Amino acid sequence: MKFNYLNTFIESSGLVIIPFLESNEVAEFNSIIVSKKLFSGKNNTHYSLVQNDINYLFLGLGKELNFKNIKSSFRRISHSKRDFLTEKVRIIIPNFLNDLHIEAAISGFLLGSYDLGHFKSDKKESFSINSNFILDLISDKDISIPSTNGLKIAQSQLEVFNLVDLPSNTATPEHLANWAKKLSENYPIKTSVFNRKESQEKGLHAFLSVGQGSEREPQFIILEYNPANAKKHIGLVGKGITFDTGGLNIKTAGMVHMKCDMAGGAAVLGAMQLIASLELPYQVTAIVPACENSVDAKAFLPSDVISSYKGSSIEIIDTDAEGRLILADGLSYLIKNYQPEIVVDLATLTGSSVATLGFECGALFSNNEELIINLINAGDEIGERLWRLPLWDEYKSDIESDIADVKNYSGKPVAGAISAAKFLEYFTENHTAWAHLDIAGVAFGDDEFAKTKHATAFGVHLITNFIKNL
Ligand code: BES
Ligand code: MG
Ligand code: ZN
Repeated sequence: MKFNYLNTFIESSGLVIIPFLESNEVAEFNSIIVSKKLFSGKNNTHYSLVQNDINYLFLGLGKELNFKNIKSSFRRISHSKRDFLTEKVRIIIPNFLNDLHIEAAISGFLLGSYDLGHFKSDKKESFSINSNFILDLISDKDISIPSTNGLKIAQSQLEVFNLVDLPSNTATPEHLANWAKKLSENYPIKTSVFNRKESQEKGLHAFLSVGQGSEREPQFIILEYNPANAKKHIGLVGKGITFDTGGLNIKTAGMVHMKCDMAGGAAVLGAMQLIASLELPYQVTAIVPACENSVDAKAFLPSDVISSYKGSSIEIIDTDAEGRLILADGLSYLIKNYQPEIVVDLATLTGSSVATLGFECGALFSNNEELIINLINAGDEIGERLWRLPLWDEYKSDIESDIADVKNYSGKPVAGAISAAKFLEYFTENHTAWAHLDIAGVAFGDDEFAKTKHATAFGVHLITNFIKNL
């Protein structure tokens, strides 16, 4: 797709989208006046009319502009009018929209092209970000940078939608590895992947234990982006469980949603694409341990004691607490071999974080106050919120084992997200700037765009914005 920048509106057929703030004045554009009674500019409303073969759509953005509202308003319009968008589309960009707002509008509009029907036999051709679609943007200032940024954000987020929404028999660990390899063909990113045998040689024992009950080969994926002008080195780790059956502690509820258990890994992959496409001047090393938590004669068992890359022994209390095991190896491998100055991991780690915070924000854990502030602010700016939970040492006893160095589950029905974070902390080698994002409640959810839960790409923009703001 391409943008066509114009500085004046010229009458010609097609769709014209005109954003409006809620105000006391009537909505007016190109000598069309819409009564306040019909359209006040309230958020989540729009008003359309046809005149001289032009379809005018007045889009209400409410009183106070915020990133999330603008993004979903534009997404709603392009999603609901997708059949229409094969014709000419123009968006008026008024001066009340700043650069961030324009990013929200453009990325939202392009996300509306997403089609969840990956396997439908009667899949319809509608507007797509990869087609020859041309979007006219009308503004009296130069908006090429924020609109291009909006396109890049949408491209990365659409990739993540695909990765997360594809089922586990398509989005396998190898599929994620191939995606990462493909990324390095298009961007200055180096991708390395360890298969089962290579992971064995490296000593990634905790990672391999989780994947050992699956026919699908585990893939330990490493991406390195290191531009010449790099200012700082950031390390990312994302949970890449392509399906979580629970293992022998098999899930009794909600298993059908567990194709989303690689959403943290997918967010890390999408963030790498976005960081590289924006050419951010930071070195970023990302690790996505990818495997399937399956049930099989070869699967690991509750009470097993396994080893880890760090060399510590882990008592398995519950095979469904598998995310922390693969992250443990991801974190210690990253920190030991790459020494990044900041480390952030993202994972759909616990139902407990969902029980605590619901679907409005991710849970944030960190030992570093500055990192906490920067991550929360980076998310607030772009409508992906985080809320802090404690990481006090009083919770450490939850992961103390009698037989091994640590255990993977407290066995208690309380503070599950916190004890999971304490477990991860044990494997961060006392790193002084590490943060853990439990995104189980926000990575995959219900919204107006589909009948079932689906990917949100939470984290892609948040992590990129965090790095951009450093
Ligand atoms: N993948 C799940 C967590 C999850 C829950 C993700 C809901 C997305 C939505 C994780 O591996 C898990 O099973 N966690 C257990 C841990 C428990 C056994 C200690 C949980 O939260 O119940
Ligand atoms: Mg699990
Ligand atoms: Zn899981």
